[in-house]
Amino acid sequence: MDIKSRIIGAAKQIMSVVDFSPEIGLVLGSGLGDYAEMLENPVIIDYADIPGFPVSSVAGHKSRFVLGERFGRKIIAMQGRFHYYEGYSQQELTIPVRAMHLLGVEKLLITNAAGGINTAWSSGALMAITDHINYSGANPLMGPNFEEFGSRFPDMSEVYDSALREKLVAEAENAGIRVERGVYIMFTGPSYETPAEIRMARAMGADAVGMSTVPEAIAANHCGMKVLGISCITNMAAGVLKAPLDHKEVMETANRVKGNFTKLIDIAIQKVF
Ligand code: HPA
Repeated sequence: MDIKSRIIGAAKQIMSVVDFSPEIGLVLGSGLGDYAEMLENPVIIDYADIPGFPVSSVAGHKSRFVLGERFGRKIIAMQGRFHYYEGYSQQELTIPVRAMHLLGVEKLLITNAAGGINTAWSSGALMAITDHINYSGANPLMGPNFEEFGSRFPDMSEVYDSALREKLVAEAENAGIRVERGVYIMFTGPSYETPAEIRMARAMGADAVGMSTVPEAIAANHCGMKVLGISCITNMAAGVLKAPLDHKEVMETANRVKGNFTKLIDIAIQKVF
């Protein structure tokens, strides 16, 4: 099946199971998937039950959509996402976001676990993404352009909507939650970066590093969605501290900040979107 048929097929499959059109999309990153359990009147669709859909395989990632309501808003959440390092093309990785567009989603909140490059921060910090550096070596819009989604050479000067971001940071502050601002750089993974790569990324202007988000944000921007990005700094990036990096630390920190992370998503849904 070609990519466009897979996008349309996924949207049709979801529409056949739910009787409403979601307005807000959530992509929940490593260790951050529990938020989907907050949705009321949930309808669950396993990715495995969607023909032509990729399937996620990382520990800490469930593999399903949860559709439901929060504060009276209609939401579609991805509990588990796909990663470039799993071997999918970026065109495949972004099938879900483009299917969300066909379902009517106009606002997308993308979350991830990330390594802290900015040494002013420590693990557990939350960062609103101001911009990104696509260091993955690929782009989800490569290949034939789907004109009905967007143009061949889309502008990327404001991938992450600044008005939504500033509102989020301000409302979070009112609620006693500190949110940093910074630039996210995507490496492919799955190996963590080397200290030399992190020094390079810092020199390039990056504040946080991860293995996701950029493809989804590009595809969402292409089709005109307003995007908010939140990184949970689960560890300091390679070489910042003496300790080696491991996935367990990522999951433990994500779990530790779950309370504030949940509040922040609530703020985004209730007050920002
Ligand atoms: N590097 C890349 N991806 C990550 C990291 C990191 O340090 N932490 C969580 N995801």
